Amino acid sequence: MTSASAQLRHLIDAAAPFWTGEAEVFRNYWNWERRSRETDRRWLALQCSKEIWGSGLAPLDKGIFLGPAEQLVAAFPRIDISLDRREVLDIAEGLRAEFAHYCAFADAHDALALPGEPKLNPHAVKTAWKEDLELSALRFAHKRENAKLGDRATRFTEGGYCTLFSEGMALKHKTQGPHGRSNALIAEACANVYEDEFGHMLKGIVGLDAEGLTTAEWETLKRMALEQLHGRIRMRNAQFGAPLEGVTLERALAGRCDPIAFDYAKAGSRLAA
Ligand SMILES: [Fe+2]
Ligand SMILES: [Fe+2]
Repeated sequence: MTSASAQLRHLIDAAAPFWTGEAEVFRNYWNWERRSRETDRRWLALQCSKEIWGSGLAPLDKGIFLGPAEQLVAAFPRIDISLDRREVLDIAEGLRAEFAHYCAFADAHDALALPGEPKLNPHAVKTAWKEDLELSALRFAHKRENAKLGDRATRFTEGGYCTLFSEGMALKHKTQGPHGRSNALIAEACANVYEDEFGHMLKGIVGLDAEGLTTAEWETLKRMALEQLHGRIRMRNAQFGAPLEGVTLERALAGRCDPIAFDYAKAGSRLAA
């Protein structure tokens, strides 16, 4: 993505310390003394909730399975008449990808069950946790404030630069020791999700430069994106039982972590593909 504008680079630079802040949640959690099989099952179930119900990416009662499924049914009579086939394929691919993510994390969750413990299902995880609902509410508020920029901010912040998935994938090197089996299951699930979600984040970036945003609009987009990234750290920290606290948490929320290096080369090759 060598052609990214100065404004887009500025937005990415502003987001990068918050992406690190989100990654800090996972890095702290993996080695945390309060981590257990039960806390692993809990965060995996909450992740499944996000993969089905969508955290503000779709109306809360439909989520990212039922929402696109109904869109596909409604689209069928219009395909190549008033709706381009590629747009329909995009919806179908989005539905398939997010459901595959649900399956990956639900498999890990269920594999960690003791005999008699329940398996996961989408309805059991319909109620998200407080901080995730707050992130959804913030995203909806931004879309009400400005439909175009609010939607752009939501897509730009989707997945939080995939740090859960990259940090989770790194656990494949830690499959011995106390959390060895969990680590192997988590690493496998995250590896199944990482490339898709990197692509979803790029979809939020593609075309931003072509929108011809004014300086004021870039500023609004940045404000919305940073508020959402701040909300993401709170959401993640709660999802994992608050492994970040005190000054470490404050530093992350204030955007004072060392910025993650945005991979322009990877982004560029994915956009060109
Ligand atoms: Fe996903
Ligand atoms: Fe996604």
